[in-house]
Amino acid sequence: MSFQHYSLIQAPMAGGISGARFVAEASRAGALGSVGAGYLSGAAILESARGVRDAGGDAFAINLFIPPSQTPDAEQVVNAKAALRSCYAAAGVAMPEQFAPLPSFDEQFEAVLEARPAVFSYTFGRLPRDRMDACRARGIVLVGTATSVAEAQALAEDGVDAVVLQGEEAGGHRGSVDPLAPGMALDALLAACRQAVSLPLIAAGGLMDGADMARVMRAGAAAAQLGTAFLRCHEADTAEVWKQRLADAGPGATGVTRAVSGRWARGLANAWMDERAPQDIAPYPEQHRLTSPLRKGAGADWKSLWAGTGAHRSREMPVAELVRTLEEEWKSS
Ligand SMILES: Cc1cc2nc3c(=O)[nH]c(=O)nc-3n(C[C@H](O)[C@H](O)[C@H](O)COP(=O)(O)O)c2cc1C
Repeated sequence: MSFQHYSLIQAPMAGGISGARFVAEASRAGALGSVGAGYLSGAAILESARGVRDAGGDAFAINLFIPPSQTPDAEQVVNAKAALRSCYAAAGVAMPEQFAPLPSFDEQFEAVLEARPAVFSYTFGRLPRDRMDACRARGIVLVGTATSVAEAQALAEDGVDAVVLQGEEAGGHRGSVDPLAPGMALDALLAACRQAVSLPLIAAGGLMDGADMARVMRAGAAAAQLGTAFLRCHEADTAEVWKQRLADAGPGATGVTRAVSGRWARGLANAWMDERAPQDIAPYPEQHRLTSPLRKGAGADWKSLWAGTGAHRSREMPVAELVRTLEEEWKSS
């Protein structure tokens, strides 16, 4: 598989958006569909890959979150838990005593090897050499995520096949290694990385139509990865309230917060964007675990409504129609 075949990538979107039918439709229409598997167990990853293939998706990507190397400070977690009590109360959701653990990365990675997708993409860090070798031995193409020139250079040194350059306009979590790293605007990041890295560069962040794709291709990107543009697709499992808020969004509707997970992430502005003291937020991924029951149980004001700066330009249509529309717009731009 080569990136010459793909100008458009349907971004991996963890959290139950990229279901099998959605990914298969994106791939069948000619984009590279991606399963956002960051929160899935090994068994669920295998089931999802089977589902995509059963629905006619041939080549697709599976995406995981690289876990942090440090264990969180226990006191910070206790503080964050105490601070979240008022949020649970405000949302009218009972705060549990115990919080479910996240799936093990080892188990997830083994499932990726077994599922053998065309592409394994990852974010929040680097993949150890033995794991890169295990992917290569199975013919799996490797794609890492960078939010700075230094991160792109580190991934190139590791020997990835392509790098997603995620600009600060992007919806969802910032894919930096350091969870607190500042972001960089996509066009500047792309221009800087073109000089520094000679690998296929995949542009991501705020790209909503074919003219946006044409802009980044002219600036040297090999492909464009779009997330928010796909959130209102009929087959996307985005919650109805989220789709509605996207439909209602005007320019400037998004903000960034690290109160949801401990990592910076961009979404439609709601109660999570309110300012919080740093000591009230546990490090990623502990904060994600602590806020998970609240986000599941509450209404839209306390859900994580991830979306990029182009949210107000999202369109509602079937996935295949969006892929076709984007390619037609791109070619005529
Ligand atoms: C709802 C949502 C979930 C996301 N989940 C992931 C993920 O699991 N893994 C990942 O690498 N990127 C994830 N991203 C980021 C995308 O890969 C991509 O960088 C981003 O969507 C591009 O910006 P855009 O949303 O403005 O198109 C997510 C983005 C959104 C909007």
